[in-house]
This record gives sequence, C-alpha cells and structure tokens, in this order.
Amino acid sequence: MSSYEAFADSFAAHAEDSAHNAHYDRPAVLELVGDVAGRRVLDIGCGSGLYTEELVRRGADVVAFDASARLVHHARRRVAGVADVRVHDLRDPFEWLADESFDDAVMPLVLHHLEDPVPALREVHRVLGPGGRLVISTVHPMLDWLQQGGSYFTDETIDEVWNDGWAVRFRRAPLTAWCAEFYEVGFVIERLVEPLPADSMKERYPEVYDRLSRQPFFINFVLRKAPAQGPFRS
Ligand SMILES: C[S@@+](CC[C@H](N)C(=O)[O-])C[C@H]1O[C@@H](n2cnc3c(N)ncnc32)[C@H](O)[C@@H]1O
Repeated sequence: MSSYEAFADSFAAHAEDSAHNAHYDRPAVLELVGDVAGRRVLDIGCGSGLYTEELVRRGADVVAFDASARLVHHARRRVAGVADVRVHDLRDPFEWLADESFDDAVMPLVLHHLEDPVPALREVHRVLGPGGRLVISTVHPMLDWLQQGGSYFTDETIDEVWNDGWAVRFRRAPLTAWCAEFYEVGFVIERLVEPLPADSMKERYPEVYDRLSRQPFFINFVLRKAPAQGPFRS
C-alpha cells in the first residue's frame, strides 16, 4: 500500500494549486513531455490524475496507475472513463501490460519513494516500444544534502512528516546512483533539467518563487529506451 493512502484526500486537494506541484513540477515536466497527440502514454504513480487529465487533453491514449486506491478514485473521477486508471503497486511486475505497448511513460515525483527502483524501471523499459521515452521528476539530490546534511554520497531511506502530517518514506541518493540505475536498466539520458519555477508562481507564492529561483528542489530527466545492442552495451 502507498503511504499516500493515509492522506490521499489532503494530497489531492494540495496538488491542484500548490507551489511545488502546480507552479513548478507540472509546468516543467509537461514542457518536456511536449506533443503526445495520438501516442500511447503510461502515467506511473498518477496520484489524483492531474497529469492523466492533461495527457488526455493533449490527445494521448493514457493508461495510469497508483498504489493508493483513494487517489485512483480521484483520478478516475477526474478523467471520467477516458483513461484506463488502475490500482497497482509499482514494486510488482506490470503483468497486465504487454511488452512494447507504450510510446512514452511519465513518472512524476514517484522515483524517490522507491527503495530499489531497478525492478520498476525494468518493467517500464519492457513496456516501452523501441526508442520509447520515460520522463521523470524527482527530488534534487542537492536539496536532500542541504536538508539532511552528512555526506552527499549517502544512499539511505528516510522517514519524515511533510506538510499536513503526511508520513512519507523516501530514498536519498546521490545523482550518480540514479544515473547508474538508469544505465543498468538500459535507458540513456536524453535530457537532464533543473527546473525553475513557472512565472505563475511569482504572484501566487512570491517567497517560494524567490527560493526556487536560487535553489534546486526537483530534477527532471528524459530517458530514452536504448537499442538492445546500443553502443554502451558492447
Ligand atoms: C508526490 S505523489 C505524485 C503524484 C502524481 N504523479 C503527481 O505528480 O501529481 C507520489 C505518488 O506516488 C505514488 N506511489 C508511491 N509509491 C508507489 C508505489 N510503490 N506504487 C505505485 N504508486 C506509488 C503515491 O501513491 C503518490 O500518488
């Protein structure tokens, strides 16, 4: 079960217009996602379906899932049957999804909640078609280092309470660990972006805008499924 189940309603309300979700993460990730009209897109850890809804609006054929049944309820209500939204824990194999059945996948703000992301990344790699893209956003390792201290190279699981008493578990790891795992699974990094806040945040949340303009909080990747006999596998 996702720990988000315990505060699903509170998270769903928060994500709609929060500084970090609505005015920072989503604008930056959706810019990387770009035009998905007519493409088959997997929304991994879809939460309350805010990405799912936008992907559908852009003309994609979307399958979405999340471990939290309550968040899936919110997402289903949001997309009203237009996308296939399921309860599934990404630590389990995606047995219900065929090999090479998606053009793109998005995994916004989920990666850091996995203690070992490799099995899940392997499944994403399997269901993507040749050259398929995986767009990820996650917590910037520099932020974890600034907040947690100690060695930047620490790789550990942390339990914390965020916002309105949300008890979460997340992994703190250096950038080199994430990149090694992408490589191990067979993804190449096409883009790495340290996003800046959207202009819409300036008026709505001026203090957060000022901080996020100076200090990284999230980091985004566009990964590309490498050819089986890619140059780095020789
Ligand atoms: C910060 S929220 C992001 C939700 C959504 N992607 C968004 O950006 O609005 C993290 C999401 O990851 C989901 N999640 C965490 N661990 C998961 C797992 N093992 N399997 C599936 N979903 C998981 C949570 O339930 C939650 O919906």
